Amino acid sequence: MSASSKRAALYTGLIDRYRDRLPVSDSTPVISLCEGDTPLIRLNNIPRELDIDAEIYVKYEGLNPTASFKDRGMTMAVSKAAEEGSRAIVCASTGNTSAAAAAYAARAGMTAFVLIPEGKIAMGKLAQAIAHGAVVLQIKGNFDDGMRLVKEVAGEAPVSIVNSINPYRLQGQKTAAFEIVEALGRAPDYHCIPVGNAGNISGYWIGFSEAVGQTTASCTLYEGAENCPYLLEAMTDKRPVMVGYQADGAAPFLRNEPVTSPETLATAIRIGNPQSWDLAHAAVNESGGWFDEVSDEELLATQAMLARREGVFCEPASAVSLCGTLRDLQSGKIPAGSLITCTLTGHGLKDPDIAIRGREAVETVQAELGAVKDAILRNI
Ligand code: F0G
Repeated sequence: MSASSKRAALYTGLIDRYRDRLPVSDSTPVISLCEGDTPLIRLNNIPRELDIDAEIYVKYEGLNPTASFKDRGMTMAVSKAAEEGSRAIVCASTGNTSAAAAAYAARAGMTAFVLIPEGKIAMGKLAQAIAHGAVVLQIKGNFDDGMRLVKEVAGEAPVSIVNSINPYRLQGQKTAAFEIVEALGRAPDYHCIPVGNAGNISGYWIGFSEAVGQTTASCTLYEGAENCPYLLEAMTDKRPVMVGYQADGAAPFLRNEPVTSPETLATAIRIGNPQSWDLAHAAVNESGGWFDEVSDEELLATQAMLARREGVFCEPASAVSLCGTLRDLQSGKIPAGSLITCTLTGHGLKDPDIAIRGREAVETVQAELGAVKDAILRNI
C-alpha cells in the first residue's frame, strides 16, 4: 500500500464521515480535530454486581479531542462560521463549550470570546480555554446570565454565537446517534443522557430520527430547519425511548419552569433556564420517554463506581445518565432485558478536584523495598 492510499483511510472527523447527512457543501472549509468516532463500551462489572439484567453501553464522549461531546457541535458551528466569513466566535459556558470553542477557534485562526460563571467552572476546562488562547470573560453571574449576555452582544458586535442555539451545533451533535446505531446495528431500546442547556438530547433525537428516515417535530422547530432533515436511506427501523436526567438542584424540566438559582457540584449542568426547552420536550414526548433527577451524592457515587469498577472515568455531570439509568432499572421503570445506551458527556480529568475530594487515597512511604512491599501486602 502506498503512503497516500494508507492516508486515505485515516479518520478525518465527523463532517467528512457524515458529509451527506450534514448541511455542508464542497465550499465549506472543514475545521476539524478528528472529533467523533468515540467508543461505545459495554459495562461488564456493574450490572453483574448490582444483579441487573440489561445490556448497558456507555458512549464515552470524553475521548473527543477536547474531552467532551461539545467537539461534535463545534466542528460544525466553527466550519459554518468560517464559511460565512466570521473572524470571531462567542459563547456562554459552564466550561466544556468554552474549551471546545477555544480549540476550534485556534484551529480556524479566529478569536474565541468565552463567558464563564465566576468560580464555577472546573479547573481542567478553564486551563483549556486559556491554553488555546480564548479571551476568557469571567462574569459575576451564572450560566443563564452569560447566555442572556451572549444573545445581546451578538447584536452589537461582529461575533458568531456558538452555543447550541446555533442550529449547526445540533447538526454536529446528532452524529453521535448515527455512531450508536452503526455500532449496535440497531437503535437501543433506551437512550439516557444528562440534560443541562438541553442541546444534546435534542441533537440525539434528530440523529435517531434521521437514522430511521423519519422527521421529528424537533427538526422543524428551529431556525435553519429548511436544511433538515437529511432523510437518506434508513440505517435502522426504530428509535429509542429518550430519558433525560438532571441534578436535583438544577432540574427545571422536573419543576416544569426555570430555576433561578441552580446549584449542583456537577458544574457542567448548573443551568436553570435551558435554551432548547421545546426541542428537549419534543424528544421526550415523541419517544415516550421522561425526565428525572438525581442528587449530587448519587451522581458522585456513580462517577466513582464507574471509574473503580469499569475503568471509565467521566466527569460528575456525565455520571448523571448512568446514575438515573441504574435506579430506573432497579425500580423496573426500565424493563429488565433492555438494551440501553448512556452518554458520558465529558472526561473525568476535566474536574480532578471533585474526583479526589475527601479521598485518603495517597499513602507516602519510604523509598525502600521493605516499605513498598509492606504497603502492597497490607492492601492486597
Ligand atoms: N454534560 C457535560 C459534561 C456538559 O458540559 C454539558 C453542558 C452537559 C452534560 C449538558 O448538555 O447542555 O446539551 O444539555 N455543558 C455546556 C457548556 C452548557 O457550557 O459546556 P446540554
